Amino acid sequence: MRIDLISIFPDYFAALELSLVGKAIAGGLLELGIHDLRDWTHDRHRTVDDTPYGGGAGMVMKPEPWGEALDALVPADGPRPVLIVPTPSGQPFTQPIAAELAQAEWLMFACGRYEGIDARVMEHARTRMDVRELSLGDYVLNGGEVAALAITEAVVRLLPGVLGNPESLVEESHGAELAGLLEYPVYTKPASWRGLDVPPVLLSGHHGEVARWRAEQARRITAERRPDLLKAAELGNAELAE
Ligand code: ADE
Repeated sequence: MRIDLISIFPDYFAALELSLVGKAIAGGLLELGIHDLRDWTHDRHRTVDDTPYGGGAGMVMKPEPWGEALDALVPADGPRPVLIVPTPSGQPFTQPIAAELAQAEWLMFACGRYEGIDARVMEHARTRMDVRELSLGDYVLNGGEVAALAITEAVVRLLPGVLGNPESLVEESHGAELAGLLEYPVYTKPASWRGLDVPPVLLSGHHGEVARWRAEQARRITAERRPDLLKAAELGNAELAE
C-alpha cells in the first residue's frame, strides 16, 4: 500500500516512523509520502487560508493550493488514490471502514485546518477519485492530522504481514467485536497484585467457562458504556439466527 499525507504541519507525521507503521515501512509493506501544502502556494507568505464567503468567524482553506497539490500528486493518466478528508462533519470512521480502506492500493489524506477546506476541492476531486470525508468522533480537533494518524494506524495494522501476531486479528474478528460488543477485561501475571486478584475462572483451565465469563463481561461492559451498541448487537444477532 502507498499512503500520502498532505498538511501544513507535516511534522505531525513523524510519529508514523515509530511502532508498527514504522516497521511496515521498513519492511517494504508500506510506502509513505508526506507533503507540505505550502509547497503549492506562490505568494511570499505562503498563504493557504482566507475569510469565508457569507461571513462568520474563522478562516477557510483556499482551493488553489489543494487543487495544485492533488494535480501534482495524482497524474491524470495514472492510478487514482482513495482521497480521505478528515472532518468532524464526515461519516463516522469505524472498523468496517478501516477494513474496506485496507483493501485499497493507495490512500491519500487531505488534512484541513481552520474551519475546513473550500468545498469545491472535494467536489472537483470527486470527478477524478473516490473521496471519503470521515470523522473520528463527535468532537472538534484543530485539524485533520490527528485523525489521519488514527485512521492510518487502524488501516495499516490490517495489512497482511504487519501485525507480529495475526492471531490478534483473528480473535478480533471472531470474539466480542464480531458480535458488536466491547472487549472483556484482560489480565496477566501476577495472579494477585496490590490485594487485587485475577478472576479465578481465568486460572481454572476450563476453556468453556472462560469463554462464557468473557462473553458475560463483554455484554456487561457494553450495556454500561455503550447501550447503543448492545441494541444494535442484539438486532444483528437476531438477524443472524434467522
Ligand atoms: N478534524 C477536526 N475534527 C475532526 C474530527 N472529529 N474527526 C476528523 N477530523 C477532524
